[in-house]
Amino acid sequence: MRKNIVAGNWKMNKNLQEGVALATALNEALKDKKVNCDVIIGTPFIHLASVVNVVDKNKIGVAAQNCADKVSGAYTGEVSAEMVASTGAGYVILGHSERRAYYHETAEILKEKVLLALANGLTPIFCIGEVLAEREANKHFDVVKSQIETSLFDLTAEDFGKIVLAYEPVWAIGTGKTATAAQAQEMHAFIRRTLAAKYGQEVADNTSILYGGSANASNAKELFSNPDVDGGLIGGASLGVDKFMPIIEAF
Ligand code: PGA
Repeated sequence: MRKNIVAGNWKMNKNLQEGVALATALNEALKDKKVNCDVIIGTPFIHLASVVNVVDKNKIGVAAQNCADKVSGAYTGEVSAEMVASTGAGYVILGHSERRAYYHETAEILKEKVLLALANGLTPIFCIGEVLAEREANKHFDVVKSQIETSLFDLTAEDFGKIVLAYEPVWAIGTGKTATAAQAQEMHAFIRRTLAAKYGQEVADNTSILYGGSANASNAKELFSNPDVDGGLIGGASLGVDKFMPIIEAF
């Protein structure tokens, strides 16, 4: 069965000490709590090893926000999937719209990153989503389908089964403008049908599809109550325990 997941994406926020303090506080808040979802925090690369050390791995998974599309070698400034895995992190966010837009990550590059993540035992949290103009032109379904097809549909069903998807309409990210619960459900159901057509109903039913884009304590419950919304990828509202915990507890 697919899992409910609430994953934080810290983006380029928090220095090392602040990040370790936030992870420690979240770990403390979850200590004696029984929650109904997996909890993941996506930290900057340099935080990974320290954050892994301060969280109970049975309660909090740790994710990188990117990894290289190359195995190793002369790629100054890059961080490989193997390096990420060696910190003890178990996940990597790939294909975030900010990576696609600002760092020109193409479908082909992302395909390589996904393969390297899987080869190193990392679970990719693969982001997809349309920009506003695409939605307004009624192209959002085609755009999302193509993002999935071009980067993921060469995977075997077994490997695809290791992927977590995050639908993040770009117009909703950091804007305070959330997709309505109906818009999220409509797209998530479409994504699941797309997966079923390629890999069969069982794989589709077992894939966690998260929603991202201005999700917060006040809208999480409604978003998560949709049958095809299996959790959230949370940016701004993951930067404080007070804001993040209520989202986790929305399940
Ligand atoms: P946001 O970011 O929650 O701040 O909108 C979500 C994301 O980009 O993953």
